[in-house]
Amino acid sequence: MDPATTLPPDTRHAPRTPAVQSKLPQVGTTIFTVMSALAADTGAVNLGQGFPDFDCDPRLVEAVAAAMRSGANQYPPMAGWPALREAIAAKTEAMHGRRYRPADEITVTAGATQAILTAILAIVRPGDEVIVLEPCYDSYVPNIELAGGTVVRVPLVPGTFRPDFGRIASALSPRTRAIIVNTPHNPSATVWTRAEMQQLEDLLAPTDVLVISDEVYEHMVYEGEHESAARFPGLAARSFVVSSFGKTFHVTGWKVGYVAAPAPLTAEFRKVHQFNVFTVNTPVQAGLAEYLQDPAPYRDLPAFYRAKRDFFRAGLAGSRLRLLPSEGTYFQCADISAVSDLPEAEFCQWLAREHGVAAIPLSAFYGDSFDQRVVRFCFAKREATLQAALERLQRL
Ligand SMILES: Cc1ncc(COP(=O)(O)O)c(C=O)c1O
Repeated sequence: MDPATTLPPDTRHAPRTPAVQSKLPQVGTTIFTVMSALAADTGAVNLGQGFPDFDCDPRLVEAVAAAMRSGANQYPPMAGWPALREAIAAKTEAMHGRRYRPADEITVTAGATQAILTAILAIVRPGDEVIVLEPCYDSYVPNIELAGGTVVRVPLVPGTFRPDFGRIASALSPRTRAIIVNTPHNPSATVWTRAEMQQLEDLLAPTDVLVISDEVYEHMVYEGEHESAARFPGLAARSFVVSSFGKTFHVTGWKVGYVAAPAPLTAEFRKVHQFNVFTVNTPVQAGLAEYLQDPAPYRDLPAFYRAKRDFFRAGLAGSRLRLLPSEGTYFQCADISAVSDLPEAEFCQWLAREHGVAAIPLSAFYGDSFDQRVVRFCFAKREATLQAALERLQRL
């Protein structure tokens, strides 16, 4: 008998949303959303989520508006606006001494997030292992899972957050497809040294492991230099080097970034990119191409953020928060053990509710919520915002 005819007449055609078996059952609301909502509810100064509370250079807005007015409003080429790819190639060559060809080695993306997902979808097959170094940015693990890959978590050394090459070496297996590295590092604010990048290069030399090098904070380095994977021949040959204009030019909401990778890797990347976003909005690309003709905005960025970092650190010097080094990024981590016995996540709730400052627990960047009594503050804020937060933090 037809099963449909056995249903009572009133439910036979009742609208029904079929259940979906989640592909990402572990994913819920992120701590960034939770803390931003809490900051909004409680009126806390929001040093949680990483974005500036000041505007970008009006010349950049004007360059984008001029591009729109001049009719740059239809689909650009799939790989990105040619003048922007040329400007990225020139910047990368000037900074790191490696020439990526705009035609087949540079692709403009909808922010670094899409770049990283696209690279992972292009190279990871079910059963492949991908190494992530924890604590890590929250998109990496779900991205690997979406591709059917297996996440292999290797901790950075607790306390110093330096890479432990012994542990990375032990995590390598014949199934390792890729490793994701991030320098300057969110959340710890460490910057990999030349020697560390060379160690990674040496370690991977006998393998077929690819590298996704997340360098979105490339222009925010206060101690030493940013050692891009592009600088190391053995790494450049196997790396997707990812960056983001959102971070560099204070326009996180524009979501434009890029990937530089050798031609065979770029070819596979673009196959996925083409059927994912296809391309990225034209006037912003054209405006960025124009704006990048002047290196001053990114060349002067370290001094701009160093002043904010130093102001924030000086303000906390007499407090009971113990400051960790901030070598790069716009983050400052602090050990909370002298202030409270609460676990990091509860401490952040308490700090927002009772003292009016929102921060992010480092445990949010670990798969097992590892708690080392450290929280992260974002200092990409106006001086008045930082001052308001400091007055509250000094009372802890
Ligand atoms: C380490 C890291 N990678 C990638 C991103 C994402 O960059 P975008 O906004 O360009 O997608 C962020 C943003 O916070 C980040 O901190």
